[in-house]
Amino acid sequence: MSEASASGDGRAWRVLVTGGAGYIGSHTVVELLRAGHEVVVLDNLANASAESLRRVERITGRAAPLVRADIRDEDALSALLRSQRFDAAIHFAGLKAVGESVARPLDYYDNNVAGTATLLRALAAADVRRLVFSSSATVYGDPERVPITEDARTGPTNPYGRTKWMIELMLGDLAAADPRWSISILRYFNPAGAHESGLIGEDPRGVPNNLMPYVSQVAIGRLPQLSVFGGDWPTPDGTGVRDYIHVVDLARGHLAALDRVLGHRGAFTVNLGTGTGYSVLELVRAFERASGRAVPYRIVDRRPGDIAACYADPSAAATLLGWRAELGLERMCADAWRWQQANPQGYGDA
Ligand SMILES: NC(=O)c1ccc[n+]([C@@H]2O[C@H](COP(=O)([O-])OP(=O)(O)OC[C@H]3O[C@@H](n4cnc5c(N)ncnc54)[C@H](O)[C@@H]3O)[C@@H](O)[C@H]2O)c1
Repeated sequence: MSEASASGDGRAWRVLVTGGAGYIGSHTVVELLRAGHEVVVLDNLANASAESLRRVERITGRAAPLVRADIRDEDALSALLRSQRFDAAIHFAGLKAVGESVARPLDYYDNNVAGTATLLRALAAADVRRLVFSSSATVYGDPERVPITEDARTGPTNPYGRTKWMIELMLGDLAAADPRWSISILRYFNPAGAHESGLIGEDPRGVPNNLMPYVSQVAIGRLPQLSVFGGDWPTPDGTGVRDYIHVVDLARGHLAALDRVLGHRGAFTVNLGTGTGYSVLELVRAFERASGRAVPYRIVDRRPGDIAACYADPSAAATLLGWRAELGLERMCADAWRWQQANPQGYGDA
């Protein structure tokens, strides 16, 4: 191994990364490879391009082979897990569009919940019982108070959020039934930004669901203007407040979680956020500063199911994982803009 491993004990690990060709997955694969770990990506490319992994190789000088397969395909999983040994899995694969989950709930329950059950069975059969799982702050629904701690009441308000919550319950039951499992459940707040190289970033298909890529496409002229959903929320400027976290900080959180699952048994849940909330208009102004472009917007009605403010109490991640976010909003905007300018059509430009 050419580079030193980031693991606490200095070992290089073999890690299966499901959904590793996607936005957060590809950034995490960069950090894993840079830390000296071996990575195999399993992805069906439902919402990603294999180009992301070629870019990962350009950034790191190391390859993460892609197995193009579906997590619901138990035969494909078993064949892979029989042919190669893994120390742990990081499980990003899933569908994530809230609106689509309302329109097509069965696709979400099948892909996310049934897919995860299939993956877990295959992992257990291959004696791989260390897992890091992508959950979401959406499991909290409309929070009773902010900042949100992990013991806050849960109550997701849409099918996507309910798939994440069901998977969390399933993982808790699994760890209780079989003490050999070691599971880290990471509740992400709002991932944003891109790798500083400008080579990988968020590449939404169609109209972006998330604010930062939307703003970025307005700034470059691909979309005419931003609609801000609600200007009368009980927040300082009336627009919704969220906890944006740089995707590279988030990726590094996975390495910290991996270290923890490699050294401990049982399941634990932590928030991955910065602890600071920014309003939509604060983000728009930060993006205008970073890009030097105007971001025209108009305030429209609130969307049903939206909430005023959502930001993390990130102290459990600091205590349990020794991790905290380091990159601020300016940096998220600058990196997202670099990615947008270099790849105006995302990986479609490649
Ligand atoms: N981006 C966010 O705002 C956010 C917030 C909280 C949680 N999450 C969760 O983090 C994970 C990664 O999110 P992302 O933003 O990188 O999304 P993404 O869509 O870019 O990545 C998900 C990847 O999973 C793959 N995939 C989907 N279904 C699959 C299946 N059945 N078999 C194999 N591969 C499959 C897709 O092709 C894609 O590459 C998801 O589970 C998502 O729900 C994302």
